[in-house]
Amino acid sequence: MPVIRALSTVAKQALQGFGCECQPFTIAVRSISFSPRQVTSDASFHSVSFSETAHPKVLITGKFLGQTFSLDVVSCRKQFGNNNVILSDIRKPPSHVFHSGPFIYSDILDYKNLREIVVNNRITWLIHYSALLSAVGEANVSLARSVNITGLHNILDIAAEHGLRLFVPSTIGAFGPTSPRNPTPDLCVQRPRTIYGVSKVHAELMGEYYHHRYGLDFRCLRYPGIISADSQPGGGTTDYAVQIFHDAIKTGKFECNLKPDTRLPMMYIDDCLRATLEVMEAPAESLSMRTYNINAMSFTPEELATEVQKHMPDVQVTYKVDHVRQAIADSWPQNFDDSNARKDWGWKHDYDLPELVQTMLNFIGSDSRVARVN
Ligand SMILES: NC(=O)c1ccc[n+]([C@@H]2O[C@H](COP(=O)([O-])OP(=O)(O)OC[C@H]3O[C@@H](n4cnc5c(N)ncnc54)[C@H](O)[C@@H]3O)[C@@H](O)[C@H]2O)c1
Repeated sequence: MPVIRALSTVAKQALQGFGCECQPFTIAVRSISFSPRQVTSDASFHSVSFSETAHPKVLITGKFLGQTFSLDVVSCRKQFGNNNVILSDIRKPPSHVFHSGPFIYSDILDYKNLREIVVNNRITWLIHYSALLSAVGEANVSLARSVNITGLHNILDIAAEHGLRLFVPSTIGAFGPTSPRNPTPDLCVQRPRTIYGVSKVHAELMGEYYHHRYGLDFRCLRYPGIISADSQPGGGTTDYAVQIFHDAIKTGKFECNLKPDTRLPMMYIDDCLRATLEVMEAPAESLSMRTYNINAMSFTPEELATEVQKHMPDVQVTYKVDHVRQAIADSWPQNFDDSNARKDWGWKHDYDLPELVQTMLNFIGSDSRVARVN
């Protein structure tokens, strides 16, 4: 699989570039007074805490796009060592994930349990995927606030206390109707109107604050809509761009819940995972910012449907607009300016729309042929 190959290469480079077995400093962000004000800033502690030879010990909270990231983890484990990448979630993992290496239950709202996991496993990198997405968040604001904001506070404090390198994904949803939409630069007005977007702006700002205040090695990418063949959509506004492939192959029909001309930035999963590992391995001095836009392509449902119909001319696409999702999409960037990521740490995407469509149809088509045979 291309993702395995790409990540193997990146992971190999990461192995050469990073290590982090010893941690001479821990910063007790919550200890005794539970107040970040007790912490003395020491921006140099990360450079001291990473040894040049050892592997990172990685904790991943939540799954990313269902099983996809877990498959990727299998290849990371080969590179970093099987026990050096620990998956965690509040949901049961599928059996191939459970049997592939360490998996533990962890609720990010349980601070003490998180700390215990980090200490007992000598964690050095924390990749924080757990979150409630845009459409799901609007349906349950208080849970989204709790997971996306309170949970993030736990993650930040744990990471600062233990000198971890922390990755948190942000999103095009961190922008709003008053942001420039075509293109949207890294730095501009951010007034999102969803709890998901508000919580992601909060994460960006808090991560950057902890970086400047406590020296936390915080790294954040604003992902566009991510498209993956081996996952089901998880309640986001860009879900249609995954669903169209499943429906086209299974039924020959697709009903889109966004208007045909709704333009949004998108990326294939392999590019997204590679970008994540590349920014994690980038030398600190190459990062002029701590939060970067990344992008690959930008298309509308109509343009995607046309590309799919080049391979499957009989697919019928109709439109029945979901007004909640449409309002969200209408407030999001249409094109994402990722020139800083390209300049600072060499970001470059591999997949444009034609390659994306070809790859998705190959994957989902071969899966459904296998399923029919079985
Ligand atoms: N899917 C995309 O297109 C996209 C785009 C931009 C950013 N992202 C970001 O990527 C991350 C993962 O997105 P996804 O699409 O895989 O979402 P998802 O909904 O599929 O996965 C989120 C995970 O969080 C877990 N979770 C929820 N509450 C938890 C808790 N209290 N403790 C521990 N885990 C908990 C869920 O069980 C789930 O496995 C999110 O942070 C999201 O903002 C995704």
